[in-house]
Amino acid sequence: MTEPTARFLRACCGLPTDRTPIWLMRQAGRYMAEYRALRAQHSMLECIHTPELAAEITLQPIKAFGFDAAIIFSDILPPLAGMGLNLEFVKGEGPVLHNRIETTRDVDMLAVPPAEETMGGTLKAIELAAAELGTTPLIGFAGAPFTLASYAIEGGGTKTYQRVKSFMVREPAAWKRLMNKLVTVQGDYLLKQAKAGAAALQLFDSWAGHALSKQDYVRYVQPYNKALLAALSKAGVPVINFSTGTTPYIEEVAACGGDVIGVDWHLPLDEVWARIGYDQPIQGNLDPIALLAPWRELQTRVDDVLMRANGRSGHIFNLGHGIYKETPVENVQRLVDYVREKPIRDA
Ligand code: CP3
Repeated sequence: MTEPTARFLRACCGLPTDRTPIWLMRQAGRYMAEYRALRAQHSMLECIHTPELAAEITLQPIKAFGFDAAIIFSDILPPLAGMGLNLEFVKGEGPVLHNRIETTRDVDMLAVPPAEETMGGTLKAIELAAAELGTTPLIGFAGAPFTLASYAIEGGGTKTYQRVKSFMVREPAAWKRLMNKLVTVQGDYLLKQAKAGAAALQLFDSWAGHALSKQDYVRYVQPYNKALLAALSKAGVPVINFSTGTTPYIEEVAACGGDVIGVDWHLPLDEVWARIGYDQPIQGNLDPIALLAPWRELQTRVDDVLMRANGRSGHIFNLGHGIYKETPVENVQRLVDYVREKPIRDA
């Protein structure tokens, strides 16, 4: 790879930048009036599968705030629909999978289709958005195997993860088959996103940390994340390995691979770096609740993140998790302007 010029991509490679690059998870979403206006006319799945709509939503936060990277508008769950699960976004309730996996036979019935057959709209949206973005890098993404398996088995969100964890311990052979199918589907999808024009890729493992002990993470999750991330080394673009709730065993998360480790807000960045190595690029890690606070409080918290990062190369400013829909847009604008104007090094 020749040395990239875009600030976000340079940070992904641990290269020095003129200032800290910033983008926010879920930056295209309900906190923006432009997004709500489009969603009033089209369903979530319509927005995802119509390339022109998805590309337009992807561009909304770039035009409004000038982030250093865009992320393609989609969701982690639609690839499960392609495997045979009946996905619906229920208003006020979130995503539901109507025919959740209950038996080992259900696992064996899951299809493993190529991404262009089931996620062709998103691949096309990546082409459109990348062309319009010009020099601003576009991030492609997918859900990690455990997080997708948990939706597939629970049938939706959960607080206890009881169904997915009991399937994992009671049916270890079927668990392995399920996780391997997800590695295949998600690996193929991510490689094709890079081919379509994504300049970086992010893997979202949002639920593993909340559900699993370190020992279970190592046994039931790590081998599959390792295999998936190893397959993505062929993509030729940097890969962000993001998870939440995993700081008790962040070393094991980093050992899965990925050029950048995306961290939630539970531990300050300097403590994460001390554990996984200072040469490891990191993305994060402002608690998204800070964006609901008055500016003085928000500023103090942003200063703390930047102070902990200490101008180190390989820091991408982001939230520790997705932005809340209640976030005032003025706070997002002030945050972006503030990080942009902050000198990267004191010394
Ligand atoms: O970051 C981005 O801007 C890209 C788009 C994106 C969405 N979802 C859009 C979305 C991404 C990267 C996701 C990832 C996602 N989706 C995850 C992993 C990341 C995380 O936040 O942990 C998960 C677990 C999901 C599943 C999902 N999708 C849930 C639980 C919900 C409901 C959430 C809620 O607050 O209601 C969704 C819906 C969803 N995905 C919305 C958006 C903008 C809201 C849909 C709407 O407009 O009504």
